[in-house]
Amino acid sequence: MKLVFATNNKHKLEEISAIVGDKIEILSLNDIDCHDEIPETADTFEGNALQKARYIKEKYGYDCFADDTGLCVVALNGAPGVYSARYADEPANSERNIDKLLSNLDRRLDRRASFITCIALILDGKEHIFYGEIEGRITDERRGESGFGYDSVFIPEGYDETFAQMGEEQKNRISHRARAVKKLSEFLNTL
Ligand code: IMP
Repeated sequence: MKLVFATNNKHKLEEISAIVGDKIEILSLNDIDCHDEIPETADTFEGNALQKARYIKEKYGYDCFADDTGLCVVALNGAPGVYSARYADEPANSERNIDKLLSNLDRRLDRRASFITCIALILDGKEHIFYGEIEGRITDERRGESGFGYDSVFIPEGYDETFAQMGEEQKNRISHRARAVKKLSEFLNTL
């Protein structure tokens, strides 16, 4: 089976291919020659994931899945949430997003946060939704070099290291996205 994953993020493609195995061939947006800026204008993770998957299905005709992920911080009433990618002012990038997060949490004792991933799959004309979540806390400063996005400031519950310190292999075993992808993979295995 071939499925398009609506991303070109190499970390996500590797993470997902490792979980799904070789029964399913995962194609990236580059693989199908899609270089569009796919709209992500919904105000929920599910809405954004569905919007991206429907875009690929409607324009390119492929069965596909798309994910939307965000970091939800308790003391910030769930922010940055669906706006995680563009939390900082333009030009929003991970470094500036982290600076803003740490500054908004400056001297806050409640540092609880969770990563949430929603995956929307469109297969044989039907839509399916899978969620994955991991709870943890935000550090006072960056720690570690691996991973991407907010990895250097997030320590998952039950661990002492950030995602960026533990390395991709361990992160990929426990992450929000891994949890959502496992559900996707289990579903695909039942077909
Ligand atoms: P997206 O929905 O996957 O594009 O991600 C939205 C925002 O969350 C971006 O700023 C990403 O860098 C960040 N993000 C997504 N997944 C992760 C992750 O696994 N670790 C850290 N940050 C992430």
